[in-house]
Amino acid sequence: MNTLETLALPIANYQALSPEELFQRTVTAKGVLGEQVLVLGHNYQRDEVIVHADLRGDSLILSKMAATRSHHPFVVFCGVHFMAETADILSRSNQTVILPDLAAGCSMADMAAIEQVDQCWEELGQVLQVEEAVTPAVYVNSAAVLKAFCGEHGGITCTSSNARVVMEWCWARREKILFFPDEHLGRNVANKMGLPRDQMIVWDPFLTCGGNTPEAIRKARLILWKGHCSVHQMFQPAHVAYFRRTYPGIQVIVHPECHENVVNQADLVGSTEFIIRTVSQAPAGTSWAVGTELNLVNRLKNEQTDKQVFFLSPMVCRCATMFRIDAVHLCWSMENLVQGHVVNHISVPDDDKAPARVALDRMMALC
Ligand code: 13P
Ligand code: SF4
Repeated sequence: MNTLETLALPIANYQALSPEELFQRTVTAKGVLGEQVLVLGHNYQRDEVIVHADLRGDSLILSKMAATRSHHPFVVFCGVHFMAETADILSRSNQTVILPDLAAGCSMADMAAIEQVDQCWEELGQVLQVEEAVTPAVYVNSAAVLKAFCGEHGGITCTSSNARVVMEWCWARREKILFFPDEHLGRNVANKMGLPRDQMIVWDPFLTCGGNTPEAIRKARLILWKGHCSVHQMFQPAHVAYFRRTYPGIQVIVHPECHENVVNQADLVGSTEFIIRTVSQAPAGTSWAVGTELNLVNRLKNEQTDKQVFFLSPMVCRCATMFRIDAVHLCWSMENLVQGHVVNHISVPDDDKAPARVALDRMMALC
C-alpha cells in the first residue's frame, strides 16, 4: 500500500462513472488489497454492493464475523452506522472499520439518546431498587454508548435472532427488563413467551416517568421503549389479509420489528437471515409474502425463481439509510484504501468501547 502523503481521492471523481466502471474498479481495488480487506454486507444492501461482499448476513452473523476475522487489517462495512460501531467494538485493536457513507444511520437507533436512557434509569430508581430489579437490554440497533450503558448496569445486547434467549437470560437475573429502543421486537418476543399484557408498559422518553404511574412500573415485568423502525411499521394487517385472500395457501413471513398486529397474523417471524433461509429452503411451487426491506425481498424474488415471492406491502418500504451505501461510495472507499487513505473511519471512544464490549460479550456467550 502506498503510504506517501497524498490527498484522499474526492468522491466527486466517482459520481459520473458508469455502473460497469464502478464494478470493475472495485473488483480491481479488492484484488490489490487482497487479504488486507474484508468486505461485510448486510442483507438489506443493494445488489451493486452485495456483489462485492466477502460475507453477508444479518446483524448477528456480521457481528460474529467482525469478532473472528482478525487477520484482515481493514473491514469495509456495508451496512449502517451501529453495525460498523459493533464491528469496531468486537474487532481487534489493530483493525480499522470503514463505513462507505457516514450518513448511513438508523432512524430507530436515533430514537434513544443516552441522556434519555439515563433519565429513565433515574426515574425508575425513584420507584424501585433499579440496579437489583431491572436488567437493561438493548437491541444492537443503537449507539455504542447505549451498549456501554448496558455493560455498566448488568445488562446485555440482543439482535433480532437472539432476543428470546437474551430476554430469558435477563429474567433469570432480575425481575424486570428495560428493553430499548424497539418497542415491537420486545413486545413480539414477550408475546411469544406468554407474558401477560398487563405486565408490559411503554416508556415514552418525552413524558415524565415515561407516562406511567408508580403502580404500573412496580407491576411491570417488561418496560418497552417507545421506538420503532420506520420501514417495518409500514406493513399492515390489511396487507396480510389481501395476500391470504388473493393467493390461498400463501405463507406470510415477517421481521420481528413489524407491529404485533402484523406479526400475530403471520405464519413465521424471524431475522433477515431466517427469512432468506426459510424461503430458500422451501419446496418449489410454494408462495411467500415477505414483510421486510425491499432490497432483500427483490433479491429473493430474483434468486428463488421456482417459488412465488411477493413483497408484503403495496408501498415501497426501503431502508433509506442502508440505501446510502452504493457502488460509488464503495468504490471510492476501496480505491482510497489502495492509495493508503482511510476514509470514514468508525472508531468508538475507548470509554464506551470496554463496557459496550461487556454487553456484547454477554450476548455472544448465549448464541
Ligand atoms: P437483522 O438483524 O435481522 O439483520 O435486522 C437488522 C435490521 O436493522 C432490521 O431492520
Ligand atoms: Fe434501522 Fe429500520 Fe433501517 Fe433496520 S430497516 S437499519 S431498523 S431504519
